[in-house]
Amino acid sequence: MQAVLSYLAKNQARFLEDLCAYVRFPSVSAQPQHSGDLHACAEWLVRHCKSIGLEARLCPTGGHPVVIAKTPPAPAAAGKRPHFLVYGHYDVQPPEPFDLWTSPPFEPRVEGRSLFGRGTTDNKGQNLAHLIAVEAYLKTNTPLPCDITFVIEGEEEVGSKSLGEFLLANKAELACDAVVISDTGMPSKKHPALTYALRGIAAFEVILHGPARDLHSGMFGGTVDNPAMALCQLLGQLRDKKGRVAIPGFYDDVKPLATYERKQFARLPYKESEYKKLMGVRELFGEQGYTAIEQRSARPTLEINGLTSGYQGEGSKTIVPSWARAKITTRLVPGQNPAKIIKLVCQHLKKICPPSVRIEVKSGHGAEPYLVSPTSPHAQAALRALKSAFGCEPVIIREGGSIPIVNSFKKVLKADALMLGLALPDDNAHSPNEKFDLDCFEKGQLMSAQLWQELVK
Ligand code: BES
Ligand code: ZN
Repeated sequence: MQAVLSYLAKNQARFLEDLCAYVRFPSVSAQPQHSGDLHACAEWLVRHCKSIGLEARLCPTGGHPVVIAKTPPAPAAAGKRPHFLVYGHYDVQPPEPFDLWTSPPFEPRVEGRSLFGRGTTDNKGQNLAHLIAVEAYLKTNTPLPCDITFVIEGEEEVGSKSLGEFLLANKAELACDAVVISDTGMPSKKHPALTYALRGIAAFEVILHGPARDLHSGMFGGTVDNPAMALCQLLGQLRDKKGRVAIPGFYDDVKPLATYERKQFARLPYKESEYKKLMGVRELFGEQGYTAIEQRSARPTLEINGLTSGYQGEGSKTIVPSWARAKITTRLVPGQNPAKIIKLVCQHLKKICPPSVRIEVKSGHGAEPYLVSPTSPHAQAALRALKSAFGCEPVIIREGGSIPIVNSFKKVLKADALMLGLALPDDNAHSPNEKFDLDCFEKGQLMSAQLWQELVK
């Protein structure tokens, strides 16, 4: 193990270069014009995995490729060893708005102990930390106590459709004892965390169609409905004054929070003033009766992610727009089902839509919520690895984000996810000026190196 640790210590400068090379690919899965960049990024990963001693291949799918990389077979004398998957994603969220970035999103830049760039924390830096730990074993000829298969996909940020199909087709090869994932966060560097629950998600778009074309608002305004106004009024009815989602049946299947969990949440580090400052808001707003930590990780929500209608250019243009569109996602908690929620939302919107506009609802990706025991032997091993790498007591948390594939790992491979996130709250995931903390990068590598030892104890 000493050889592994000194290999890690000696090669930090090169690891950072590798991460920069990885971040330079604009692998934006939501935007079709980047599909070539996703492919090139996957090819880079395969080459990189081979160069560190893994057996790697690029697996084409109906969408963006999946990269599979395995540790070389153990010597026959080692007998049958446990097998773990490490899951990560090489796709990133759209970088827009570009003008809010201090430096271009795909030109990684180091400032102090931060590496700025789209995808640094979500998720390239986090999955590279695991590749680096395994590289350290392989390059120092230190025997690994288990077999490890990396599964790195290119569609996480758009719902993981192709990986879902890939799992079903490659069940036997991917059969494993657990799936290790670093794609979540920790409250602070002093509070490394094991995440035991994620929210699910259901995405949809609402389009209101009005006049056949944009109309002169002076000539026709006042006689036809304005789809933008109608949409605002429609969406305004989806939330009540207490911050609850006002769709009949929305909360029916929500499992209430256990008292022990609420106590546990209350012990997590949280200062309202710092939290407000982090997000740049004057006041918080959320469902009454729950703390901010509960609201953001263990209660369901409905968010408008994008709203478009009419003229968006400079100056003014006096029109009644022909249509208005909203992109919406709901975050779901254990008990709730994405398909059922989409149905409820559709029915409700259609019911309250006025006849003066035509409504169209398009459903998008969905993922079920996830909950796993934080007391299993694997979870205990993960907590020991976190403690030894970060040098302080880890916490267990629920996270509000979603990782669509975790439920398929459970259903198809019967494997639980061990979520050991390396992101900090101020990493700006999905926002302009995303960064990854280089201490988290380094400690993440250490954590991963220790984890393989702890998991087989
Ligand atoms: N890394 C996130 C998931 C995450 C974020 C977990 C914060 C815990 C805390 C992941 O890359 C992500 O952003 N997922 C999407 C999935 C969606 C587009 C289907 C999400 O949660 O919005
Ligand atoms: Zn993300």
